[in-house]
Amino acid sequence: MRILVTGGAGYIGSHACQRLLKDGHRVVALDNLFRGHREPMDMLKSAHQTEFDFIEADLGNQDIVTKTLETHDLDTVMHFGALAYVGESVENPLWYYRNNISSGISLLDGCDAAFGGSGIKRFIFSSSCATYGDPPEGMIPVPEHCPQSPTSPYGFTKLHFEHILKDYAIKRAMQDNPIALTMMRYFNVAGSDRTGMLGEDHTPETHLIPVAIDAALGKRDSMSIFGTDYPTPDGTNIRDYVHVEDLISAHALAMDSTQLGDVDAFNVGIGKGYSVREILDSVKRVSGVDFAVHDAPKRAGDAIALYNDPTKIKSKLGWEAQITEIDEVVSSAFNWLKAHPNGYASKQHA
Ligand code: UFG
Repeated sequence: MRILVTGGAGYIGSHACQRLLKDGHRVVALDNLFRGHREPMDMLKSAHQTEFDFIEADLGNQDIVTKTLETHDLDTVMHFGALAYVGESVENPLWYYRNNISSGISLLDGCDAAFGGSGIKRFIFSSSCATYGDPPEGMIPVPEHCPQSPTSPYGFTKLHFEHILKDYAIKRAMQDNPIALTMMRYFNVAGSDRTGMLGEDHTPETHLIPVAIDAALGKRDSMSIFGTDYPTPDGTNIRDYVHVEDLISAHALAMDSTQLGDVDAFNVGIGKGYSVREILDSVKRVSGVDFAVHDAPKRAGDAIALYNDPTKIKSKLGWEAQITEIDEVVSSAFNWLKAHPNGYASKQHA
């Protein structure tokens, strides 16, 4: 297939580009490099001269989107580009709504206008388990039919954009020009690709696993646990940590199996929950370093416990996580961060 990957220079988007190229697809990555990196784009371009292109532009730039789709004759969009920090979204909600929703609508307008108004064939949206908020009793592990009631602006941006996409799909069906629409609701994504080429390099870094690894590598003196009196067995939040390559496999399966007119949503998570303390224990085991950990107040916007019920994605897409042991996920993240102490910039300074 011929795929536009928005946010292609970001952590998850770059892993998607790599996998899609490996599978023989034509890929064009679009990214404004606000939080993405040029280095993975350069590496992918040198490995796939003819099948890969990178365009530095904002996904909200409707004209560039239309032109890119038409010039490269692309039929599918995987939409990863977004601001994606729960805590930051509470502090800057308007920025999150503008970026994740207004720019997303411009992206859709650009897709809709392409090919003389026929539009694209497939749209796969990077949604989030943050759309569920705190699931009601009996809904953990979380199935796709769980009520969606986010606890943060970030979660709301993902939920609103799901609704916008569903309405767009209805319009396309009414015009007798159906689109295949898939919403992938990720749980927490971690790890890096097994070749060691790509990894997780965020500025600022706020995600639990890389922050803990930074503490283990001595890049920070200590780290904090945000909230220790949650109603969970050890008082800390529970999350489901899916390996980035497993996550992208789920996208590949969704892209290959959906038909025009399909509108569906899938949770992507391994189906096991780990508390913050369990993650820190894993990072300590993997790194062999007993770094300092402090108790800190709760972080605004955090849900208490979220882990996936993978029944639907297993039965409909045949997807199952290959990496299910937390130490393996953590090792994968640890190896890249140890080899790249300054993230992608490490290469230039090596
Ligand atoms: N946490 C700490 N200390 C830290 C960092 C995080 O205790 O230094 C805790 C958080 O409070 C939370 C858990 O670790 O309870 C996981 O936090 P992350 O920041 O790693 O991830 P989030 O769950 O907040 O968010 C991530 C992605 C979102 C995605 C979401 C789904 O950033 O895009 O997972 O849960 F939607």
